[in-house]
Amino acid sequence: MAILEIVKYGDPRLREKCEPVAEFNDDIKKLIADMGDTLHSAKGLGLAGPQVGVMKRLFVYDMGEDGDGLHALINPKIIKKSGSDVCYEGCLSVPGLHGEVERAYKVTVTGINENGEPVRIKAQELLARCIQHETDHLDGVIFMDLADPETIEPVDMDDAKK
Ligand code: NI
Repeated sequence: MAILEIVKYGDPRLREKCEPVAEFNDDIKKLIADMGDTLHSAKGLGLAGPQVGVMKRLFVYDMGEDGDGLHALINPKIIKKSGSDVCYEGCLSVPGLHGEVERAYKVTVTGINENGEPVRIKAQELLARCIQHETDHLDGVIFMDLADPETIEPVDMDDAKK
């Protein structure tokens, strides 16, 4: 078990566009396991590569009681978006703040999962929001960029974080 340090808002690494993962190998498996440990330790829903200083296109997510455990998505591509949903959102790299962000209600995403298999996932509501939030991280976009500025406010640290 390894807990990685989470990169915080203001760090330039959160603003970079990440490189695709070239190969699914033991290093990537180890990274996914460590990112999963870090996510669980921080009680978050999702954690993207640049948030632990790895400038690669991958993230891990775990929907907790609403999901089926820890998953990873490597080289994610959102190929379809529909509907709209406004909800409060936070980020492990921006501790203590949340804000309302409009996102697509449903997405279809392709990528490689934690077992190295190609997947096509249809998601809605919170999982769709998480996938959009984490994919944004891979392009240097943070939820604060998208949030309605008037809604950004301090949050209880135990509330939902991504
Ligand atoms: Ni985030």
